[in-house]
Amino acid sequence: MIGKIKRRDVRQNISQHNQNLLVSQKNSSSYQWQSILKTDYYYMGPKNRVWDSYYLTRMLDRLFGIIVILALSNLMLRAQAPMPKNAANPPEKSPSISVTPRPLVKAWKILDLEGLLGAGFEGGRQYDNGRNLFQQATCIKCHRFNETGSTAGPALTKVALKYGPLELLTHVMEPSKEVSEIYQQHEVILKDGSTILGRLVSSKGGRVILNIDIQDRDALKVIEPKFIKSMGPSKISLMPSNLLNTLHENDILDLLAYLLAKGDPTDPMFK
Ligand code: HEC
Repeated sequence: MIGKIKRRDVRQNISQHNQNLLVSQKNSSSYQWQSILKTDYYYMGPKNRVWDSYYLTRMLDRLFGIIVILALSNLMLRAQAPMPKNAANPPEKSPSISVTPRPLVKAWKILDLEGLLGAGFEGGRQYDNGRNLFQQATCIKCHRFNETGSTAGPALTKVALKYGPLELLTHVMEPSKEVSEIYQQHEVILKDGSTILGRLVSSKGGRVILNIDIQDRDALKVIEPKFIKSMGPSKISLMPSNLLNTLHENDILDLLAYLLAKGDPTDPMFK
């Protein structure tokens, strides 16, 4: 009965003919040999074994498995250790946000605000307000900050290491000043003169598919080649430039302080 034959026996007794067969099948372009044959081929011993991509992938798989197990056990050990008091950057949960539409306060210019940036961060900032505004001004919908948010735009957790207050403000108010390739949008100009902006999903055979809503992967716009006049990368950032216009001065400072403090409520800015 075939069920009783040990797999190892089959492997050990694999004939030279079958080995040749396996090698020839393996090298054939179809690559569709059965898994039993595959296993036996790799059991032929180190002499005949070929260090090809399949073999390396299997080795890497195993290595990866070991790394995952080590990482998990490390995590479990850490979880048992008591949390230090006043830990900086406490993880924030639940990015389930309901954003209420906010009325316009002012069409802010950088000039209106830059004078406030020095003294404004010397103390007295409201941590909770800053954190709340990160959600209410919709930043959280595109940015990851510490443990929360979305990955549509760059993570802002370490933004304080990159930018001082004025640079940070400038990036928030003029996002199109530096549009990075990773988040670049494409602009399709149609023959009727209208323009469609979005992230390029595909342009196979001249048929362009754009994702026209960064927060919704399924918001796709298909544009047939006969309607297209021209297309190319856009210089306009995905990030709206008017997000601070619904905030008061103190709100803007609280939001910036929240980012500059890396989300740490014990930062001197909040004293
Ligand atoms: C619709 C998505 C979206 C929203 C909403 C949004 N951003 Fe952005 N943001 C981006 C993208 C995309 C970039 C990258 C700039 C680029 O290449 O266009 C960016 C860049 C930035 C940068 C520069 C980051 C860097 O590392 O250089 C800062 C700071 C920033 N955003 C802050 C904010 C703040 C604060 C808010 C809320 C008031 C916000 N963003 C809301 C998409 C968004």
